Amino acid sequence: MAGKHDRRLLQHLDGMLEHLKKTKVDHLVISGDLTDTAEPKDWQILKDRLIEHDLYDWQKVTVIAGNHDLINLEEEMRFYNVLNPLPGIKKRSFSGKVSRFCSMFSELIASDDESAAGFPFVKIMKIDGFSLAFVAVNSVWPWNPTENPLGARGCISPSELRVLSINSVVDALRESFVIGLCHHAYKVYSTDSVIDQAFDWTMELTNRKEYLEVLKLLGAGVVLHGHFHRFQSYTVDNISFINGGCFKNSPERYSELIVRSDGSFSQEFLSLP
Ligand SMILES: [Fe+2]
Repeated sequence: MAGKHDRRLLQHLDGMLEHLKKTKVDHLVISGDLTDTAEPKDWQILKDRLIEHDLYDWQKVTVIAGNHDLINLEEEMRFYNVLNPLPGIKKRSFSGKVSRFCSMFSELIASDDESAAGFPFVKIMKIDGFSLAFVAVNSVWPWNPTENPLGARGCISPSELRVLSINSVVDALRESFVIGLCHHAYKVYSTDSVIDQAFDWTMELTNRKEYLEVLKLLGAGVVLHGHFHRFQSYTVDNISFINGGCFKNSPERYSELIVRSDGSFSQEFLSLP
């Protein structure tokens, strides 16, 4: 989503939120890159919109961060060139930004103790007696000039994956339909162009194999992600990965996931009428 100046996009957002309310969608997931400015004041615009539409509610909406919410590429490079900062300072500044994001959306992340909002988080909701669980990770990797030069490469911290793998988490999710939420894609969307392929590594989720193992351990059936501006779904080891596409490019389109009480599900990409 763009900044405040993009009124047209905000009108589309209003239309989308109204439509989702009218069609009585149980829950909305926004899979990161809420903004393209990495500015908290722009995260606030989305928050205000959700509040206005009476959707700013733990039971109704879940939001995770994307690289464009946390990394301002231009600023990173300027800062690096001028100051060549120590890695420790950069790391602290990045984790400060993640904390700021979580505290901005704390009411959507942690229902009872908002001060505990952070990644990873697990949300177990009862919807018409059915137990649905979201397992959300932060896959945004801090910018660095050699390993993540565009800020678009992803990595889930090993500590997040470790926390999600402990027995108490596995047990808590046993009775739920589990959906993973991760900004980065499992699959790199290569084209046949050699130039595109040369840049694949700059967009990839580096530890996707480790993430997949955790998803399997938790019994996840579906993962919702973003990052690539495409509406696309694919299966890896019996887990369906769904990319909700790009609101800025296609503000009338969205992905609908229907989960039935017997644990079966179906998904399609829909357009506003
Ligand atoms: Fe992204």
